[in-house]
Amino acid sequence: MANTSKDGWYYKSLDNRSLIIKGDILEIKTVDAGSIDLVVTSPPYNVDVKYGDFKDDIPYGKYLEFTNSWMERVHGLMKDDGRFCLNIPLDKNKGGQQSVYADVIHIAKKVGFKYHSTVVWNEGNISRRTAWGSWMSASAPYVIAPVELIAILYKDKWKKSRKGESTISRDEFLEWTNGLWTFSGESKKRVGHPAPYPVELPDRCIKLFSYKDDVILDPFMGSGTTLLASRINDRTGIGVDISTEYCELAKERIEKIINGAKS
Ligand SMILES: C[S@@+](CC[C@H](N)C(=O)[O-])C[C@H]1O[C@@H](n2cnc3c(N)ncnc32)[C@H](O)[C@@H]1O
Repeated sequence: MANTSKDGWYYKSLDNRSLIIKGDILEIKTVDAGSIDLVVTSPPYNVDVKYGDFKDDIPYGKYLEFTNSWMERVHGLMKDDGRFCLNIPLDKNKGGQQSVYADVIHIAKKVGFKYHSTVVWNEGNISRRTAWGSWMSASAPYVIAPVELIAILYKDKWKKSRKGESTISRDEFLEWTNGLWTFSGESKKRVGHPAPYPVELPDRCIKLFSYKDDVILDPFMGSGTTLLASRINDRTGIGVDISTEYCELAKERIEKIINGAKS
């Protein structure tokens, strides 16, 4: 199935474990309010990434307004004990320095989310620097942190209301509850999307913060990485993307997994 059906789904796997909605997260009506256990997502960073159908270089104030709007929407879709793993940059250097993490968390709290903790993801991305500001001079040097953050937020109650089956191993629990995660980023070329995260990121969030059979939402699904991790871990994954190209890509990646390929 590849065109949006009457009930609003662009794609539904036969077992209903992987579901895609093509549309703007601000407008979609297919997901019921109060139905989501865990949100794992990486929204557009507004750093002029060339997405198919989306402009990623709006003025910073407009970006924060958009952040407020989509967070309100996502907040309404979550259960009271729902959790929210938000992958965002620490800051932004391109087009003017901005404290993205601080500003986005401020908005999340204004919208009604509660703050729990933050993971620092060291993605080992030491790309070749060219912008030094002022080379070997105190005149106007730039400092660039080669990390991203995963803010852990929740809607109302941190403790889960129902008993369920956790699927994390002892070693994973010990390692991942230490808030410095080190693993490589994903190759854009391999995946065919301009800003994918590796499966390892949603995989860790899903195992740490959800039970088997929980419902996971990615409101900015991109290539569908969160849906792959949901499927691999026996959760239901719902992904939303504004671009037909990425909905199709996510569908292809899911079907490969269903047909036995590795992620
Ligand atoms: C940073 S990418 C997500 C990448 C994803 N984590 C992955 O692994 O492929 C952000 C995605 O949000 C989508 N997007 C932008 N604005 C949107 C909106 N208003 N509603 C839904 N999706 C949107 C873009 O098309 C893009 O694919």
